[in-house]
Amino acid sequence: ALEKAYKEIEDLFTISPEVLKTITAHFITELQKGLDQEANIPMIPGWVLDFPTGQETGDYLAIDLGGTNLRVVLVTLKGNSDFSFTHSKYSLPATMRTADADDLWDFIADSLEKFIKEKYPGGCASDLPLGFTFSYPASQDAINMGVLQRWTKGFDIHNVEGHDVVPMLQKALKARSLPIEVVALINDTTGTLVASMYSDPETKMGLIFGTGCNGAYYDFVENVHKLSGDLPTDIPSGTPMAINCEYGAFDNERVVLPLTKYDFKIDEESPRPGQQAYEKMIAGYYLGEILRLILVDFYKAGLIFAGQDDSKLQQVFIMDTSVPSRIEEEEAGNTTVIESIFKDELNISTTAAERAIIRRLCILIGTRAARLSVCGVAAIAQKMGYKSGHCAADGSVFNKYPGFQRRAAVALSDIFGWSCKLEDNPIKLTAAEDGSGVGAAVIAALTEKRLKAGL
Ligand code: BG6
Ligand code: GLC
Repeated sequence: ALEKAYKEIEDLFTISPEVLKTITAHFITELQKGLDQEANIPMIPGWVLDFPTGQETGDYLAIDLGGTNLRVVLVTLKGNSDFSFTHSKYSLPATMRTADADDLWDFIADSLEKFIKEKYPGGCASDLPLGFTFSYPASQDAINMGVLQRWTKGFDIHNVEGHDVVPMLQKALKARSLPIEVVALINDTTGTLVASMYSDPETKMGLIFGTGCNGAYYDFVENVHKLSGDLPTDIPSGTPMAINCEYGAFDNERVVLPLTKYDFKIDEESPRPGQQAYEKMIAGYYLGEILRLILVDFYKAGLIFAGQDDSKLQQVFIMDTSVPSRIEEEEAGNTTVIESIFKDELNISTTAAERAIIRRLCILIGTRAARLSVCGVAAIAQKMGYKSGHCAADGSVFNKYPGFQRRAAVALSDIFGWSCKLEDNPIKLTAAEDGSGVGAAVIAALTEKRLKAGL
């Protein structure tokens, strides 16, 4: 009976090349729709209007607020595609996702204050320009502002949605008399794009496969039809424009994604139901929870963990993505890790048959995530006519989830019908350059250059 239940999940979670192609085709239409009008995929113009040349220079501060950490970075751009940086990482307290807005800004400002005191013990001579990587959908009319459309990745902090986040941060900095000016607000995907382009001219996209999933690329202003009336006259056609797709919101209408009852359940549990349909199937914030929901189902059907205490297993989000990740990482045949995860973290003793099924479930969940994840990449490549290039990727799933990179490469091959070896795929996911903070610094430098030129 357990094998039969597993087979049903296998059918639901296996994504064929045909399905990938159908999803990608719909994705292209949706990306275009988002450029034409306010639509489901936001396609947010990022107001980064130059390609980095690799010759930008100067010292810049950057903060990088991702899904799990706040990084404060001091970047020295040296030109010749070279840079160095020092950084400190402050892990976001678990309660921050649902804290008060002031707690969030205070946490960031306090971390910055600590960092500045350490790096500039004698104080700094002039105001430091800061690039702020804010990894949530923020609408921008200019590079130095961003109105949060809605929280994603399980965040639910009141009184931020609908507001420009830059003055909120600036106020917290001012309260501490910190000599810092926020000159650019960027998304982590845009930061990844620009940082990687600074040192690798083959870069075509910036991608995050982490707590959330999203991508950015450069389009040209004349293709962003929804901007036509709002474009300043001094921005001529042919000017590049970085676009933060926010494609985690792909198919919120649920037209094409092969959603399972587990995906619907995750959506119901989330603080923003109906949103981020694609992201909720593939991103790190959700993969452990998908596994938990399947196990709960199997348990309820009397197929696993007979007579065991299920109280921990019933706790929503008790398993983060490190659970399937650690299980997949353990060499097949070994069981120490999986046994101890269930025993120590969930208070459940597992049988060999149960462990084997759990491992196979992890493979299904991880493989589905990787395969679906590249539909957005393939869609951007097809829309832009890219035949080759590097798609710079970052985030915990890309960097740490076993097999993710290979599975993603196989899926890209399936979509494009390539028959070469995976390492020869003409469009490749490549590891991004040292975090999007560096991109924030490059963008701050590009912004300053434009301001100085009176643009
Ligand atoms: C980091 C980037 O390396 O990856 C961040 O510098 C980004 O900008 C982050 O937000 C995403 O990964 P995760 O796994 O923390 O969501
Ligand atoms: C979520 C956010 C997006 C971010 C992505 C990766 O999708 O909405 O802004 O880029 O996560 O961190």
